[in-house]
Amino acid sequence: MTNANGKDESVMATQPGYSQEETERLALQWTRAMWNADLWRRVTWLGVPVMQWPTDLLVMQELIARLRPQVIIETGLYLGGTAVYYASLLELLRIDGKVISIDIQINPVARQHVENSAFASRVHLLEGDSKSEAVHREIEKLLGGEKNVLVCLDSDHSYRHTLGELRVFSRYIPVGGYLVLFDTICEALASTPKGSPDWVQDSPMAALRQFLSENPNFSSDETWGKLLVTFLPKGFLRRTG
Ligand SMILES: C[S@@+](CC[C@H](N)C(=O)[O-])C[C@H]1O[C@@H](n2cnc3c(N)ncnc32)[C@H](O)[C@@H]1O
Repeated sequence: MTNANGKDESVMATQPGYSQEETERLALQWTRAMWNADLWRRVTWLGVPVMQWPTDLLVMQELIARLRPQVIIETGLYLGGTAVYYASLLELLRIDGKVISIDIQINPVARQHVENSAFASRVHLLEGDSKSEAVHREIEKLLGGEKNVLVCLDSDHSYRHTLGELRVFSRYIPVGGYLVLFDTICEALASTPKGSPDWVQDSPMAALRQFLSENPNFSSDETWGKLLVTFLPKGFLRRTG
């Protein structure tokens, strides 16, 4: 059978590298190689460095366009790339919403990036430990009862901190909403030259498994892994009840 480009799909499917399994294997191999080569550090959004791979940014855009959240809470501001990215999407989608971005230490460069962007009025920066009561008191104030919330966790990637964040931020997610956990890929990077063997146990994926075992009302929605090359495998947690 020929496809729209006139190629025989049955032949393509039997050639090495074209089965689903082989495609997934190659995607993981490429993810490990490009992470190890620091290619992801070259990504910018509207001139601001953003520590994500482009396919993940694209998928986040799809999720945000579908959910149309009023508030996006993120942990891990770093240089402000994702905060500016999320705020720009709210603007493009004409959602009268805001981004709350939390970092244990707000980098003055990140503050400048946010303030110099066209979206400064939408971004609220909170300095402090993302698990602290003081930070959550501020979040509650900024939410003002708003329930249409998306949470993106991208701060300290240790097992302990990530599990703590999952437990404390899951309360903001409405039924049908999502909590997105970044860098679950660390486990699969443990054996790369720049990785650490500790990441098999001490990383977001292990925390995700523990969190899911404690919370049957959340499940990993793997449809968002559709582009295969991702730093967030299984990281899209949907609240089902
Ligand atoms: C991976 S970077 C965030 C990258 C950013 N989301 C992006 O994609 O451009 C992680 C950030 O988490 C912050 N961080 C580390 N521990 C934290 C904690 N306990 N609470 C809040 N932020 C923390 C660090 O200061 C750092 O800026």
